[in-house]
Order: sequence, then structure tokens, then C-alpha cells
Amino acid sequence: MTSPVQQENLSRFDAIAAQWDESPMRTEMARAVADAISAAVPLGRHWHALEYGCGTGLVGLRLLPHLGQLLETDLSPGMLAVLSDKARAAGLEKIATQVLDLTRNPPPATRFDLIFSSMALHHIPDVAALLRAFFSMLAPGGWVALADLDAEDGSFHSPDVPGVAHHGFDRKTLEGWLDAAGFTAVSIRTAYTVEREREGAQRRYPVFLATGRRP
Ligand SMILES: C[S@@+](CC[C@H](N)C(=O)[O-])C[C@H]1O[C@@H](n2cnc3c(N)ncnc32)[C@H](O)[C@@H]1O
Repeated sequence: MTSPVQQENLSRFDAIAAQWDESPMRTEMARAVADAISAAVPLGRHWHALEYGCGTGLVGLRLLPHLGQLLETDLSPGMLAVLSDKARAAGLEKIATQVLDLTRNPPPATRFDLIFSSMALHHIPDVAALLRAFFSMLAPGGWVALADLDAEDGSFHSPDVPGVAHHGFDRKTLEGWLDAAGFTAVSIRTAYTVEREREGAQRRYPVFLATGRRP
């Protein structure tokens, strides 16, 4: 059963998939998030990684050269189709795509060395439950690396954008959810700052990267 918020996300992201990569802000943020993950996590060329809410793979494709295998997952088949076309055109072999919505599908049985995500958490109503699912999908010693907005006043998205479950996250709350899920060595830093004009003023929206490990 797809919830109303997930149905809104599915429709919206399928509809904008073909234009997603045209935004310089999105590609610049993806580069910054990938750089922050590379700096915080000692990536291994034999690692099997999963990206959740990967969209068109802007972050995952940057990390791919440093990983063994990458499973790119998203709610939206439209976003994954754009990613598959890019991967095929570039002759990439270490990458696979899969529709996955952990708010209604059980976690896959595979155990991963790294699960990462960028700008997907704010679309997920129960993030604490998602973090528990990520924990169960990691091999012992595996890493989680999650980027999203710091708490904001709701002005980041235009009022007509559907499917937004959170106006960013308070870092202490997120840290508490990661601790409660069982992660250790939890650390949160700023990875990027989005600048946007809102009501005639230039606004800054910091994006954090939270990392932790399954013992
Ligand atoms: C703001 S976009 C970010 C895409 C990509 N990570 C990037 O940085 O360009 C959010 C992505 O999360 C996906 N998403 C939303 N809800 C989801 C869910 N419940 N499960 C998996 N993916 C979801 C959307 O389809 C979309 O591709």
C-alpha cells in the first residue's frame, strides 16, 4: 500500500526525472556531498554499497570509482531510468538499479558495507524506522552516510511542492535516532550550503552529512 506522501513523491519525481540533472545547484550539491562522504568514510574498492533515494545518481556516480559494487535504489522508476541510461552510455558495469521503498517494502537480504543517501530523508515520514532498517542492512563494521537539510522554516521548498515530510532536521534529534538504531561513532558536519532567493532576500540552507557505523 503506497501512502499519500509516497504517492506524491512517486508522481513528482517521475515527472521531473528527465530535467533533474539540468540544475547546476543539484550537481554542485551532489559533488560536495560525495566529497564529504569520501572525506569521512574510508571507502574500499571491494565494498558493496547501496544508495537510498539515489534519483538520477548524481552522488552515486561520483563515488562509484572508489567502490566495488553499487546498488542504486529509489522510489521513482523514472529517476532510475535516467540513471540507467547514463550508466549504459558510459559503459559502467559495477552499478545496478532497483526500485526500493523501505517505508513499505522489507529490506533486501544482502548486507552492505556502506549505505548512503542525499536529500531523501526529508521525504520519509518515519526516519527513525528507516535508520533501523539501514542498520539491519549493514554488515558488521559497515557505514551509514546521510546528507539532508538542517532544520529550516519550511521556505526551502516552494509551497506547491508535494511529498515533503520534514522541514529539515535538528542534528541532536537525528543523532538520537542514529544512537537508538544502534549506530556508533556518530558524527555530523556541514557538507554544503544551498543559497536561494526567498521573498527578495538571499537565504542560506545548510546541508549536513551524518555518519555512523554498525559495530
Ligand atoms: C530531492 S531528490 C534527491 C535525489 C538524489 N539523491 C540527488 O541528490 O540528486 C529525493 C529522491 O528521493 C526519492 N524518494 C522519495 N521518497 C522515497 C522513498 N520512500 N523511498 C525511496 N526513495 C524515495 C525520490 O524519488 C527522489 O529521487
